[in-house]
Amino acid sequence: VVPRPLLVEAEEDEVEVGSGKTKLTIFYGTQTGTAEGFAKALAEEIKARYEKAVVKVVDLDDYADDDEQYEEKLKKETLAFFMVATYGDGEPTDNAARFYKWFTEGKERGLWLQQLKFGVFGLGNRQYEHFNKIGKVLDQDLSEQGGKRLIPVGLGDDDQCIEDDFAAWRELLWPELDQLLRDGDDTNTVSTPYTAVIPEYRVVIYDPTTTSFEDKHLSMANGNASYDIHHPCRVNVAVQRELHKPESDRSCIHLEFDISSTGITYETGDHVGVYADNCDETVEEAARLLGQPLDLLFSIHSDDDNGTPLGGSLPPPFPGPCTLRTALARYADLLNPPRKAALIALAAHAIEPSESEKLKFLSSPQGKDDYSQWVVGSQRSLLEVMAEFPSAKPPLGVFFAAVATRLQPRYYSISSSPRFAPSRVHVTCSLVYGPTSTGRIHKGVCSTWMKNAVPLEKSRNCSWAPIFIRASNFKLPSNPSIPIVMVGPGTGLAPFRGFLQERLALKEDGIQLGPALLFFGCRNRRMDFIYEDELNNFVDRGVLSDLIVAFSREGPQKEYVQHKMMEKAAYIWNLISQEGYLYVCGDAKGMARDVHHTLHTIVQEQENADTSKAESVVKKLQMDGRYLRDVW
Ligand code: 2AM
Repeated sequence: VVPRPLLVEAEEDEVEVGSGKTKLTIFYGTQTGTAEGFAKALAEEIKARYEKAVVKVVDLDDYADDDEQYEEKLKKETLAFFMVATYGDGEPTDNAARFYKWFTEGKERGLWLQQLKFGVFGLGNRQYEHFNKIGKVLDQDLSEQGGKRLIPVGLGDDDQCIEDDFAAWRELLWPELDQLLRDGDDTNTVSTPYTAVIPEYRVVIYDPTTTSFEDKHLSMANGNASYDIHHPCRVNVAVQRELHKPESDRSCIHLEFDISSTGITYETGDHVGVYADNCDETVEEAARLLGQPLDLLFSIHSDDDNGTPLGGSLPPPFPGPCTLRTALARYADLLNPPRKAALIALAAHAIEPSESEKLKFLSSPQGKDDYSQWVVGSQRSLLEVMAEFPSAKPPLGVFFAAVATRLQPRYYSISSSPRFAPSRVHVTCSLVYGPTSTGRIHKGVCSTWMKNAVPLEKSRNCSWAPIFIRASNFKLPSNPSIPIVMVGPGTGLAPFRGFLQERLALKEDGIQLGPALLFFGCRNRRMDFIYEDELNNFVDRGVLSDLIVAFSREGPQKEYVQHKMMEKAAYIWNLISQEGYLYVCGDAKGMARDVHHTLHTIVQEQENADTSKAESVVKKLQMDGRYLRDVW
């Protein structure tokens, strides 16, 4: 097949008509960088395989400024791949949200994408209810709007090995691209094996005695007009206190960030993204395993000495120079199990041949079971794996590019209302702490940081973190007289504390409030009944009509919020039937799923409906935005 030259309008970065080149775009919707990494790796491999391919990797948010531009640009695409992750309650990633909304709501556009050949690879986790929803919907809608699907949608499952899923999907892609991107006279029609290059930054080491450097990392008052995931704002910890009672053997922290004079604003129900540092113990262990001193002053660069980009699937460099201590604390994910790409990079730098072989095996298709048991199943952290292969000490340029992924911000449902606390963002965070099967005590990065945080009320030299606000649609009804039912066991209580603060402020302004029901669950009233006094106060002040608490470990039988909901089924349904709203916040895999089923049962019983009728009633509530979930 001799492909015709494509009729692509010549734009700066596009393909000239008649050049014989084919333009190909790889879009990504990424939250933690995995989809972005896959998009870049795919681009590299396509470039290496097909001379005529001109590949562009595009962040969906950066593709266009507005919806019209999306349409105009997408119309011109002829070959495109989408690497899109699904987050939270079946939602797109932040950087894909605008595109996804516009695209999936645009069915009336008809078959306007008939010139487009496409493929979708979704990134999700099978443990969640809406497994890969975004990938599936996008794939379906691209096809419905006229696009020609080159290969079936890939359903990457992060619960297992998502890199394997991606590799399998790519294998299906090559025969299709061979057809499209190889010339007819090309004798080599079989794909040549491709070995991924291990990405590596250029590293510059500084002499600390002669270099004066301003640690940009420590002064993140960033001067930006608005803050987001890429431009967080440095804020102090004003308040930190334990919420569990002394009898509890677990910990839950109440923390307040001081946002006064930062320009940060938020709404009740929003999320806050927090960049926390790895703790000293973790950072010190990492430096030891790398064989480098913590005070080493260095910077990383994604271009060579002449300013030419190094290419490859390099993540963006972090600002430098900084000490190795800062780099490891702030930018390296050291406690998650390493990806296979990290094992390959470690293998390439293991001096001991047996270690190199073992690492290669673990990352190979033959070693699939070992990888899934020894690494993922036993939650072996990157540091634990490195400790098993002590001769593998990759240079820093490789470590930060290919071994350690970037430490991600953690998201929390804000537990305050700006009407009550305009200069504070409150967070309610339970400590992640417990042994893994290898005997390591796993300490969650951000919750450990919060547990150890020193507040301004205790020291002028207080803890701080870069943060940003992520808007959510988990909002109170605009009319305060509409009834609300809230279900939030454990730290799922967080946004409802904000809701109740807001209602209190409204009430104090003389506004009439509708009924509000809260189902809270915890283990035992003497241990983890968090914010007990505040909740009772909300009841006394008339902003909470009923506080219903399920104690799971007090009596002989487990009592959960959904059991309490069944007891109050008629009341709940009566409120919802009066245009009421139902809110659920907390753990997605167990609680939210069970509560969802309970809601079905309540509808069935109260409406005397069969299963399918009940299902459509619940669907309708969801579509109307009156059944809202903030789950993780
Ligand atoms: P448990 O730990 O005793 O099982 C907050 O975490 C509360 O939610 C705890 O009381 C916990 O009980 C409870 N919980 C655990 N799984 C749940 C589920 N599937 N549905 C509702 N509540 C649950």
